[in-house]
Amino acid sequence: MAQLWGGRFTGSINELAWNFNASITFDKRFLEVDVKGSKAHATMLAKQGIISGEERDQILSGLDSILKDVKDGNLEITTKYEDIHSFLEANLIERIGDAGKKVHTGRSRNDQVALDMRLYARDEVTRAKELILTMLKTLNGIMKDNLDTYMPGFTHLQKAQPVTLAHHTGAYFEMFKRDYSRMEDIYKRMNYCPLGAGALAGTTYPLDREYTAQLLDFNGPTLNSMDSVSDRDYLIEFMSALSTVMMHLSRFSEEIIIWNSNEYRFVTIDDAYSTGSSIMPQKKNPDIAELVRGKTGRVYGDLMALLTTMKGIPLAYNKDMQEDKEAFFDAVDNTLNCLALFTDMLATIKFNKDVMLRSAKMGFTNATDAADYLVNKGMPFRDAHSVIGRLVLYCIDKNCAIDDLNLEQLKVFSELFEKDIYDAISLETCVNKRLTIGAPSPEMMRKVIEANEAFLAKEE
Ligand code: ARG
Repeated sequence: MAQLWGGRFTGSINELAWNFNASITFDKRFLEVDVKGSKAHATMLAKQGIISGEERDQILSGLDSILKDVKDGNLEITTKYEDIHSFLEANLIERIGDAGKKVHTGRSRNDQVALDMRLYARDEVTRAKELILTMLKTLNGIMKDNLDTYMPGFTHLQKAQPVTLAHHTGAYFEMFKRDYSRMEDIYKRMNYCPLGAGALAGTTYPLDREYTAQLLDFNGPTLNSMDSVSDRDYLIEFMSALSTVMMHLSRFSEEIIIWNSNEYRFVTIDDAYSTGSSIMPQKKNPDIAELVRGKTGRVYGDLMALLTTMKGIPLAYNKDMQEDKEAFFDAVDNTLNCLALFTDMLATIKFNKDVMLRSAKMGFTNATDAADYLVNKGMPFRDAHSVIGRLVLYCIDKNCAIDDLNLEQLKVFSELFEKDIYDAISLETCVNKRLTIGAPSPEMMRKVIEANEAFLAKEE
């Protein structure tokens, strides 16, 4: 047990308490960001004349050599150390002696860990953006290929009106585009540097906080040292945005699961992304989509855990805050994994266009358009609604579509029906005439795709 403290203590810590208190098993993933932050801190200390240029150089090369040795497998991060910060400091002192003892001048583990978390989370926001962008490209590709792939649009999971696969996929494009812009907002707000806040009240050393912020590519330093060490808002915001990504993925998963069912058969999931049953030879299960749906609850749980942890903590740093890490890592690891996997699954999925078309034809999805036809011939909408309602009932009984009836049969329901009804309620007409902004006609969708492509080109 390599304790960072000593002078004030006469006894040593109980072993269970040591293990309970330690965070090295999970904060070891801060190795790189901790080295980066410490290098910036040492560079600033030398610039301010707090340590010498020689000491700075020893610290920089000492930290680099530790990083290299860990990466090459020549140095192990063990539970002998409480956390990654003490691991690095102890090893630095071992390697370079007295200069190593100066790296922590004007710094506390409180601002150190706050910095590490920001640096780490900032990279993960960038990674989330990249993955969302790949998802958006995949969705746009599906849209382009399916401008006239007709399918039923649903409300209450009941066939409602015909749409196209491009239009349905376009709804997800919008959702993930919002997710993307949420990530951008979060990045902007979190991009301030807490280093130099010390334990809670800054320091009397003449630190140049603007300079360290600049070295680490932050917009500037944070402005209140107590807030700097105890702010975890950016994690909560990020986890909330991740939860929204998961909510979108989960809804999409649910649709894929339904569409993959024996009853729907709208899609065939590639063998690479489905699994079989150990007993039922005929089964091909959508396990990936189910797991994405399942992990959504877990990511929500991580967000709730951190919100709850934070709610009772007085200013400034308290050890409760160490609990931010496992919850955050779990949320970000799972969400980014799900995003990557789901996008790959989507890119290889086969849409069974003929099945979708048949389904759209057979579900009275043109009933609204049939009512609108009567309205155009002069009937008030409420009456037209009732006429078509009776007509649908008749067709259900006869097990046919509205357009399967001949004109004579139609006229029994209203004298207003003429030959042009068939064209007016064909699937093509129902979709192609929906020309309002955001509607499914290929003409409108082409404009949307153009806008999507302009957005994607700008972000690349
Ligand atoms: N492992 C600690 C954490 O993650 C580092 C900060 C320790 N600070 C302290 N005052 N004990 O929060």
